[in-house]
Amino acid sequence: MPPAKKAKTAAFELEFSYLGNNLYRSPIRAVMMPARERKDAGEDISLLAGGCPHESFFPAKALALELRDGTTTAPVDLDKPLQYHKGSGVEALRSRLEAIQRRVHGRGAWGVACSVGCTDALLKTLELLTEAGDEVLVEEYTWPGIVAQTVPRRRTTVAVAMDAGGVVPAALEATLAALPRKQRVFYTISSGQNPTGCTPTEERKQEVYAICRKYDVVILEDDPYYFLAMPLDYESEADMPGADPAKLPASYLSMDVDGRVVRLDSAAKIVAPGLRLGWVSAPMAFLDKFTVLNETSVQFPSGAAQAAMLALLETWRDDAGFDAALRKTQHEYARRRDVLVAAVRGALAEAGGATLATLETPAAGMFLWLRVSPSVAPDSRALQDKLIKNGVACIPGACFATPDKQGDDCPFLRLTYASATDAEMRAGASRLAATLADYSRNPSRKYLTADP
Ligand SMILES: Cc1ncc(COP(=O)(O)O)c(C=O)c1O
Repeated sequence: MPPAKKAKTAAFELEFSYLGNNLYRSPIRAVMMPARERKDAGEDISLLAGGCPHESFFPAKALALELRDGTTTAPVDLDKPLQYHKGSGVEALRSRLEAIQRRVHGRGAWGVACSVGCTDALLKTLELLTEAGDEVLVEEYTWPGIVAQTVPRRRTTVAVAMDAGGVVPAALEATLAALPRKQRVFYTISSGQNPTGCTPTEERKQEVYAICRKYDVVILEDDPYYFLAMPLDYESEADMPGADPAKLPASYLSMDVDGRVVRLDSAAKIVAPGLRLGWVSAPMAFLDKFTVLNETSVQFPSGAAQAAMLALLETWRDDAGFDAALRKTQHEYARRRDVLVAAVRGALAEAGGATLATLETPAAGMFLWLRVSPSVAPDSRALQDKLIKNGVACIPGACFATPDKQGDDCPFLRLTYASATDAEMRAGASRLAATLADYSRNPSRKYLTADP
């Protein structure tokens, strides 16, 4: 979807936590970093300030990556990435990522800082914007990482009901109306939602955005699956969205008129999770604090990881190169999605049809959300041991519920097409269908013999 037109509105004032308001900025950096910048700009300055080893101490000078297609990236000079630098990342990478964001999400009053992936950026965002005792609103089924970060830090996760189109606006409004009126955070996984695979329409997101404005809510848009958008009908790579904003899902960032969106992107799903690299797009007042929090914890994302990302972006170079790389990945995900969807539907039909389970084809991400029929088992956890015993691993839906709802029955199973081979997906689908059929036939629920 093309970025929405922005109306001029007064900026939303983010309220920061005690930590956010009391960050300790390094007095050494305060001297060292500007002096370094002036020296880089050509001024005659003797750098006797910070304990930065001279670049001649670094054993490595440049980094190039050997790619799977047999080619090698252009070498990236390592002097800057391997040196101490700002918590927002090296300028060459930060500005490239910012250009991608502006192209995809439109212009807005926000900037970009590099992060150590969505997980670390999420934790830092929660620490900057919430205190112990605060509520964080989340989708009814959500990534357990948010529970792991909030609950042990004495924040409460409040689940908001979802339907097939994402979070239900009326439920969001009712939940907010019942909570104390203060700044709250709504955490949403914006495209190819984990675990449901759902990508809300632009209209649904606009409704959610309007409610968040009405109730002074910050939208924490965690979107690692954004670039894994893929059409349901396609013939070739050329039909994939690439980085074309007209074909990618609408983002909350693109709708933000007053600076209430903090958006998290990640290289994990489009390059590799082990790179531990992501980027945060947010109002400058937020990024400034995020940068200091990086500097007081990880300093900045690994210079080697930043250099590797830069090598890839410089090799993909222009928009067309980045688009082409994305289209290749999107096409492979679409192909795998279709293999698993067809295999599961086929196996279910053979084993007992829609009476066993149903599923929708997702338009983004890496997950299928299978609804197991209540006649098989009202709670999919009951199937877990049998599934494993029969050689298929998938995650019971209850794992994605908030702690207060984990006692409720949950009929879903989450499956992924990201990691198995086609043959493994097909075998998994028939094992799954046979397990459901066997379980539904066996009223005592005590035995399961066949290993299909
Ligand atoms: C919703 C969501 N957020 C964040 C992450 C982790 O992202 P990263 O590897 O960038 O930390 C995942 C990955 O599984 C995820 O599903």
